Amino acid sequence: MNEDMTAYISGVGELMRVRAGGAPLAYVRTYGCQQNVADGEKIKGLLYEMGFGFTDSDSEADLIIFNTCAVREHAEDRVFGNVGALKNLKRRKPGLIIGVCGCMTEQPEVAKRLQKTFPFVNLVFGTHVLHRLPEMLYEVLSESQRVLLLGHEEKTIREDVPIRRDGKSRAWVTAMYGCDNFCSYCIVPYVRGREKSRRPDDIYSECRTLVESGYKEITLLGQNVNSYGKGLSEKINFAGLLSRLDSIDGDFRLRFMTSHPKDASKELFDAMAGSKHIPHHIHLPFQSGNDRVLREMNRRYDREKYLSLIEYARRVMPDVTFTSDVIVGFPGETYEEFQDTLSLIREVEFVNLFTFIYSPRPGTKAAGRPDPVPHEEKTEWFAELLKVQEEIAVNNCKKLVGSRQHVLVEDRDGKSGLLSGRTQGSLVVLFSGDDSLIGEFAEVEVTEAKGWSLRGQKI
Ligand code: SAH
Ligand code: SF4
Ligand code: F3S
Repeated sequence: MNEDMTAYISGVGELMRVRAGGAPLAYVRTYGCQQNVADGEKIKGLLYEMGFGFTDSDSEADLIIFNTCAVREHAEDRVFGNVGALKNLKRRKPGLIIGVCGCMTEQPEVAKRLQKTFPFVNLVFGTHVLHRLPEMLYEVLSESQRVLLLGHEEKTIREDVPIRRDGKSRAWVTAMYGCDNFCSYCIVPYVRGREKSRRPDDIYSECRTLVESGYKEITLLGQNVNSYGKGLSEKINFAGLLSRLDSIDGDFRLRFMTSHPKDASKELFDAMAGSKHIPHHIHLPFQSGNDRVLREMNRRYDREKYLSLIEYARRVMPDVTFTSDVIVGFPGETYEEFQDTLSLIREVEFVNLFTFIYSPRPGTKAAGRPDPVPHEEKTEWFAELLKVQEEIAVNNCKKLVGSRQHVLVEDRDGKSGLLSGRTQGSLVVLFSGDDSLIGEFAEVEVTEAKGWSLRGQKI
């Protein structure tokens, strides 16, 4: 941390204590993907240094920060709704500070709309200037000004931002920032900027510290981790990074997301197969099973290449499982083309799918294309897809009855009161046991398949 940052941190600490009449409380509301969750943990790290405690209640908070996502229209609408809902609270509690950051603010029109529609928002800042939060808050507090700070993309990666992690057993570690792929439907490259990889030594030491302090699962993050290493002075690719991290001693799992099929390599699957710590599970988004649609999406692989990756991974890891993302109703997609998506789902048998109806994002290429299929029809296709996947998921679960699974226990399931953990293959298992198991590995025998999830018994 540099001197400026330290000075602003103590400055904000003092001003906030006076304003809140004691230790101030912050509520950081994060939307969107794991990358945003990781950013949220940095925001909390900085706030903690400034003397904030944390709450999940709007009315208790002295500072509320919305860490937003722009990937679909629905995500943005939720934020507009939730920020708008604070108007009355702000009237009752004029000292409340409200900030909006994250991917939405990186779209200039949206940032403008936020400022205009919500005059009670004190602070709007982008994803590239997160480390300047102490300085921005200092300005808001000392000059009673609204602050808007966007778009200053840093050339180097800041390694000095403190992190306050949400979990005690599972941790997110950023491997790379940004995205260079410009899939034609996607806003991420516009709001997150160009790809930048962290130095392998920095990633290694963060992971080693996590393992030493008892973390049991590390997930490496990047929009396309397979292109890790571009632009680094040291010659290293993602498979090389994985092998290096796999050499860390200890009882832990190393996961990663997201892999882009265009850059997934045999070397990556070989590294996984030969590793000690990497579960045999890959999240490999295919988006569509039809070659014309894939071309229009600018995904730069075809169905055959995707299926050959799956086949190779299965050859070197017979127990490997796959999860994926898929988009229904891309502009111009026909019902016949959509059937190719269904047939690919049947062929691969994913253990889980993240399914989305296409949502036009202003400024992206696809948003300007003719989109003749009405939304209601896309909703019907979507329901058809869910039915196919449900059948597959249920079958997958049934196949596991009687098997023994190495499970990381995550928490207690609210509905059943049972412990909930995840297998190596990323399936949820519920079983009975006491709280001391939370955050630990357990061996569990699967006794029953209940729809999408598994029931088991601790061995
Ligand atoms: N970098 C990751 C995905 C990040 S966004 C990858 O390439 O796989 C997560 C998912 O949101 C995408 O995989 C895609 O399925 C979905 N998505 C992105 N933009 C979308 C849009 N405009 N409409 C609907 N779904 C979208
Ligand atoms: Fe979006 Fe494509 Fe980049 Fe993923 S790889 S973040 S889908 S542009
Ligand atoms: Fe959303 Fe930004 Fe992630 S747009 S999906 S939070 S990178």
